[in-house]
Amino acid sequence: MMERSLQAELLDELPANDPRAVGSRRDLRRINALMGNARLMARAVRGAASQAVPRRIVDLGAGDGTFLLRCLRRLPLLPRGIKIVLVDRGDATDAGVVTELCARGFLPRVEQADAGGWLRAMPAGPSTWVVANLFLHHFSAESLGELFGVIAQKAELCCACEPRRNRRSLAATRLLWLMGANAVTRQDAAVSVRAGFQGGELSALWPADPRWRLRERRAGLFSHLFLAQRT
Ligand SMILES: C[S@@+](CC[C@H](N)C(=O)[O-])C[C@H]1O[C@@H](n2cnc3c(N)ncnc32)[C@H](O)[C@@H]1O
Repeated sequence: MMERSLQAELLDELPANDPRAVGSRRDLRRINALMGNARLMARAVRGAASQAVPRRIVDLGAGDGTFLLRCLRRLPLLPRGIKIVLVDRGDATDAGVVTELCARGFLPRVEQADAGGWLRAMPAGPSTWVVANLFLHHFSAESLGELFGVIAQKAELCCACEPRRNRRSLAATRLLWLMGANAVTRQDAAVSVRAGFQGGELSALWPADPRWRLRERRAGLFSHLFLAQRT
């Protein structure tokens, strides 16, 4: 058992246009591809989409937006006109992502804000999904409990893909130099794994409410998937 430990990540503290941050976001796109996170999340939410189409999808800690775009590319049956909100306290949205989202018929909006504060102020709307990739691990159990409480009030579905906290994932972070990852990425990757999740840790923090069906499991080689769906 690896105890969960939280430590600040370098990428969160660098200005978005710092070359080390730019390089690290490029590394992140490749790491996401390696982890298969867009595929894992798309597969997890596909069933829900066939039952009830979302009207709004909110990505917390969206980074440059590439992750959600990749995920949506894998859900071609979603109808046009869905609102997409990319929430991040940094200012790193890729203009090309927004262009492609528009071309695919989505209605994207970028919100530069603290995710928790933004979510609390978000008006409840019909059929909202909240997704997060490599984001929840930034938070303590207490903060996650509060965040989940807000999401459970305002959304119909919540899906997150996070680092799996185990020896294998940690060992893999030591090999990131092989793909040319920079020092920021290499340090943050190890910090992220130590702050990652295993077992039913996220489900235990979701509000106890029988209207929610929770699933949480190991996914892919290095990921941990959480899905909460209002029944
Ligand atoms: C590891 S990156 C993941 C980015 C993106 N989800 C992806 O998969 O490429 C974590 C992101 O969370 C953002 N972030 C961290 N704390 C945040 C907060 N409290 N509110 C909003 N964004 C936050 C950072 O700015 C960063 O873009």
